[in-house]
Amino acid sequence: MKVDTFLVEQFMDKYELNVEINIAETCVDPFTLGEFLGLMDYEYFFEEFKSRKLTYGHINGSPELRSGIANLYNKMKADNILLSGGAIGANFLAFYSLVEPGDTVISIFPAYQQLYSTARSFGATVRLWKLKWEEQWVPNLEDLSSLVDKKTKMIVINNPHNPSGYLINNDYLKQICKIAEECDAYLLYDEAYKGLYLNDNDSVTSAVDIYDKAISTGSFSKGLSLTGLRLGWIAASKPIIEECIRHRHYTTISNGMIDDSLAALAMQHVDRIYKRNLNIVRTNFKILNEWIENEPLIDWVPAKAGSVGFLKYNIEMPSEELSLKLIKEKSTFLVPGSCFEMEGFLRIGFGNNTNTLIAGLERFKKFLDAYC
Ligand SMILES: Cc1ncc(COP(=O)(O)O)c(C=O)c1O
Repeated sequence: MKVDTFLVEQFMDKYELNVEINIAETCVDPFTLGEFLGLMDYEYFFEEFKSRKLTYGHINGSPELRSGIANLYNKMKADNILLSGGAIGANFLAFYSLVEPGDTVISIFPAYQQLYSTARSFGATVRLWKLKWEEQWVPNLEDLSSLVDKKTKMIVINNPHNPSGYLINNDYLKQICKIAEECDAYLLYDEAYKGLYLNDNDSVTSAVDIYDKAISTGSFSKGLSLTGLRLGWIAASKPIIEECIRHRHYTTISNGMIDDSLAALAMQHVDRIYKRNLNIVRTNFKILNEWIENEPLIDWVPAKAGSVGFLKYNIEMPSEELSLKLIKEKSTFLVPGSCFEMEGFLRIGFGNNTNTLIAGLERFKKFLDAYC
């Protein structure tokens, strides 16, 4: 099966662990197990687990975990939730279950490449719904209307958006759902960065609470800081979940029992996790935004949500060359825009440990000073 090289994953795999400072990280400062169990008031978790047999466990995810995730939505119940290996597994399963050769799929762009390359590899024609720097990354609904037609099988969006940090608000989301409904298309709604709002008033409803052919994919990696569990989920109406289960039997059987139990515990006190993590992203956002305001060669559309932003730089150099020079000279890691097929940009993460972000920005500043 032919598939495009996944540029961002390939680049991160090659460099992110070989640098002193990584300021491209997308996950909000992942927990140590000790910190997590302390926050949950459950230090004896592993003592209790000792007597449990390590079986396949519940195939689709334990009832506790599924109902805990369902509580993140207004209209979802436990049987609307299906566990997966990360949001990446959830997205893949949605494409594998619903997209066929000859279908037309519309995907937001730039984007986490899986969102457009997977459907392409399954034989769909993929049209890109391009967000533009000149329009402050605001999705243009007229553009979307001109891309869809009666043959459109699926529209794919990501909210909060990677790499721009843009947040589609409720009004827009409703209009996107309406466009999807008019052509009877599925709406794949990747909300891997769910819950990370930089401003309390900005929270958005999930597409699955608005449109019955929407599929929400979520993650334990980003806003929940449990990246190492490698868990994510699909939330959708029962007929879609059943179709996904039929396909998932060929790829997964079940996720790990220990991971499932830790994730269920996280869902019991999800408010504590979001309190910790909103504090991190909001503090870091301020630091980053101030840094950019004082940096003549860097500009951005300030992120509204999530943990990433797309920096526009004013240096005559391809983004990959710039990233590699930054690694070589300052051992500091940023993802080049070329990984998103967008030149002139660098993706930064602001979910990281605050001291790491500050140290990385200091090094990046010294690097940029040579070009002023
Ligand atoms: C938009 C988006 N979706 C999905 C994923 C996959 O996340 P995970 O599999 O860690 O849940 C990522 C990872 O960077 C992402 O940015």
